[in-house]
Amino acid sequence: PEPVAADAVPQAGQDGLVLLRRVGAVDPYSLDDYRAHGGYTALRRAFALGPAAVIREVTESGLVGRGGAAFPTGRKWQATASQPDGPHYLVCNADESEPGTFKDRVVMEGDPYAVVEAMTVAGYAVGAHRGYLYLRGEYPRALGLLENALTQARARGLLGDDVLGQGYAFDIEIRRGAGAYICGEETALFNSIEGYRGEPRSKPPFPVEKGLFGKPTAANNVETLVNVLPVLTRGAEAFAAAETKLFCVSGSVSRPGVYELPFGATLGDLLELAGKPERMRAVLLGGAAGGFVRPDEMDIPLTFEGTRAAGTTLGSGVVLVLDDRVELPRILLRIAEFFRDESCGQCVPCRVGTVRQEEALRRIADRTGAAAVDDIALLREVGRAMRDASICGLGQTAWNAVESAIDRLGAYA
Ligand code: NAI
Ligand code: SF4
Repeated sequence: PEPVAADAVPQAGQDGLVLLRRVGAVDPYSLDDYRAHGGYTALRRAFALGPAAVIREVTESGLVGRGGAAFPTGRKWQATASQPDGPHYLVCNADESEPGTFKDRVVMEGDPYAVVEAMTVAGYAVGAHRGYLYLRGEYPRALGLLENALTQARARGLLGDDVLGQGYAFDIEIRRGAGAYICGEETALFNSIEGYRGEPRSKPPFPVEKGLFGKPTAANNVETLVNVLPVLTRGAEAFAAAETKLFCVSGSVSRPGVYELPFGATLGDLLELAGKPERMRAVLLGGAAGGFVRPDEMDIPLTFEGTRAAGTTLGSGVVLVLDDRVELPRILLRIAEFFRDESCGQCVPCRVGTVRQEEALRRIADRTGAAAVDDIALLREVGRAMRDASICGLGQTAWNAVESAIDRLGAYA
């Protein structure tokens, strides 16, 4: 099958792409083609440097996690590698389930060997001999491509007992999710791999200390990992000077897809590329856990700091554009339904709060958007309780989008 839809990357073939430069340009089934396009240079450099210097390089690059939380990758690797009791594990979180997020899918389908190479580099750096790639169950194409890449890499000595003849043993196992959003939360993901219910664990202890099977684990998002390749091939300084981010643009735009932009471009710059609607109502930035911004906020810089300063988040790179035909109350209700459905039910604030939130939003939507004062007060109270007292990010952020719609967009006013 056609591995990645031709229009999924509107910038394909353009100069200046770092993470997407091979997507659409290489045959994703062919290891030789991957190598002909620079593949496995980073792993060779990693072996030449040694694990400690690889971590130093990644730390100096300033790379932070691309799953949504922006935790420094070098710090995570250093903390994992420094744990005395192994075995150490490397987990690639490919359970990409945030509504409106599809960047990792495009990378896995368009450049699968890059994911395998990056996991090998990461495993080497943190001292792991086993890596798990936890793949969203609804990504069958990515599964086929990654399975092929693993088979080819094993056959060519790029995985196995003696990777590249360097005396380092590493292999990767793919585990498929089964449709639960919560299994993308790293500790629920570990439980799922271990065969338990996909319920988050309390943190701390953080996975770097007690992760998969209770052992030191570096868990990284797909986009985070593939960034490590240019960190090593270009060097930390050059990487940092031209660092890029992937954005998933969907909704009312004429050219939806995955875009790669240097940090510092504005939301307006991105929407120019994607073809924004004439009459925009709002943009959901960062995903359902992020927040809405108004059409007059297009100068928000698309950086982690810039979006935070503007009271929102870059999250997992969601940019969902709404034009003025949308029924905002219905959209907010849909988001609330999603969180109620996906709450694992383990802790009361989230289990009960997501139900109460949905009920209030349904009452409002059924009154065609007219909110009673009591409904808004209840939403705020429930939202605060979920944010303050939930165990994991799902409950803590389940009210973010609704809150931003009320406060920034004047929804229900
Ligand atoms: P978090 O802030 O708890 O942790 C982020 C990462 O840093 C984790 O790997 C954690 O183990 C590590 N970490 C944090 N403090 C640490 C410390 N002191 N020592 C060592 N390691 C530490 O955030 P979480 O809950 O892992 O992720 C929340 C984010 O996930 C949100 O920003 C949301 O946007 C995003 N998200 C992304 C989805 C997707 O499909 N990509 C789906 C749902 C949420
Ligand atoms: Fe489960 Fe929600 Fe509690 Fe997270 S916050 S542990 S999803 S009930």
